[in-house]
Amino acid sequence: MVVANREPYLHERTSGGSLKVVRPASGLVTALEPVMRACSGTWIAHGSGSADRETVDRHDRVSVPPGEDAYSLRRVWLSEEEERGYYYGFSNEGLWPLCHTAHTRPVFRAGDWRHYQLVNERFADAVQDEVSGTDPIVLVQDYHFALAPRLIRRRLPRATVITFWHIPWPTAERFATCPWAKELLTGLLGSSVLGFHTQAHCNNFIESVERHLEARIDRERHAVVLGGRESLVRSYPISIEWPNRAAAETAPADECRRTVLADLGLRPDALLGVGVDRLDYTKGIEERLQAVDRLLERFPHLRGRFTFVQLAAPSRTLIERYRVLHQSVEDLAARINQRFSSGTYRPVILLRANHAPSAVFRFLRAADVCYVSSLHDGMNLVAKEFVAARDDERGVLVLSRFTGAARELTEALIVNPYDLEEASAALATAVAMPAREQADRMRAMRSYVAEFNVYRWAGRMLTDAARVRQHGRLADRLSMGLQPLEQGRGSEEAHG
Ligand code: G6P
Repeated sequence: MVVANREPYLHERTSGGSLKVVRPASGLVTALEPVMRACSGTWIAHGSGSADRETVDRHDRVSVPPGEDAYSLRRVWLSEEEERGYYYGFSNEGLWPLCHTAHTRPVFRAGDWRHYQLVNERFADAVQDEVSGTDPIVLVQDYHFALAPRLIRRRLPRATVITFWHIPWPTAERFATCPWAKELLTGLLGSSVLGFHTQAHCNNFIESVERHLEARIDRERHAVVLGGRESLVRSYPISIEWPNRAAAETAPADECRRTVLADLGLRPDALLGVGVDRLDYTKGIEERLQAVDRLLERFPHLRGRFTFVQLAAPSRTLIERYRVLHQSVEDLAARINQRFSSGTYRPVILLRANHAPSAVFRFLRAADVCYVSSLHDGMNLVAKEFVAARDDERGVLVLSRFTGAARELTEALIVNPYDLEEASAALATAVAMPAREQADRMRAMRSYVAEFNVYRWAGRMLTDAARVRQHGRLADRLSMGLQPLEQGRGSEEAHG
């Protein structure tokens, strides 16, 4: 069973009155959906689509993917007030900026916190509702549900709770600014296994525990023991499905390139840069466009030839900071276009929409360079998707050093996105890179992602959880009192 705020399929009513299925732009969904397709089970999520209520059965369930019915989606309904407090408020104005070093201050409101607590209870109730046995395996996802592991354990003491935190964990110093630091940590330590993308995030988490709780840290086992209960705290770098479904559904690279250039009105020998993100201030979209501006300033021969296309999915638009970002990205793109446009040539094209996975892959396949410039990112799966898209072994990845992905995709051109000299030089190197060099780098990254794919990510967490589960069962048996004879025999066997 998966508990995640974002659902993998939303049902929307179009203005023409027909039903539309939407795949949301979310790294979490990109990773988890193929795992659920392979394993089946139930995904419990907030039903946020305008036609979600019309498409569920009387238990609020719908089978997905549409037409394939591989697993069940259970929708939980939230009032507008709950959504505002729990999702927009505490999760996205509190925890999101708290965990990302991107210079937006977190806002902590007591009212939002109350909604966060209540919604976590609601989802724990939904888990209890959905399980058939007493010892289910529950995969709790992300910062929306820090309290859920403990709440689930209270309801189902024998459950195996695997929690994965998809975003960075901040330093203990920073985490201490949250008024409910202790409650969040205690909630998360209801997990049997608690996963982060990198060891650095695990270390930050453990330091936060040391600062706020009376708990025992077992560094040998990478575990925290609180109130006699152990949680493993380990790193599990997330990944994407391989072989990749969206790649398989997309036309070959040369066709993508031809049609994308034609659709954008670019000349056939244009050099194309691509960025794909939710419109979020952690993604460094402004720094990315500034790097394009600097590139054209430093390398005049690229004017008229290099175009950067930014696919930007609107996100969390009720939050003021996101609206401000939207405006500043538009203004910046307009300024660069004004500066370097000539005839029909425009250096920056902003495509602000939620693009379906195969539409995203079409752009990734058409590109000469993909620039991922996050100011801070737990992993960043767009970087791995770019690698999955390039079965032609062409294209160069320019990647921010502040992403989890930079630790794995070491053949990318790794840059500091704040350093416009370095970033613009990397873009220039990328568009001039010989085909052979591109292929060597891309091949190495493709074989890495093929091996460390999302099934391995899930498999490693499940294997660790199975060990915890087995250990728990044996300990239960012992505490329920083995017969003296059996105990004696056991120890004889052990010694024999
Ligand atoms: C990040 C978070 C996910 C979230 C995604 C999209 O990747 O870690 O939990 O689903 O952003 O954001 P949204 O708020 O639209 O779900």
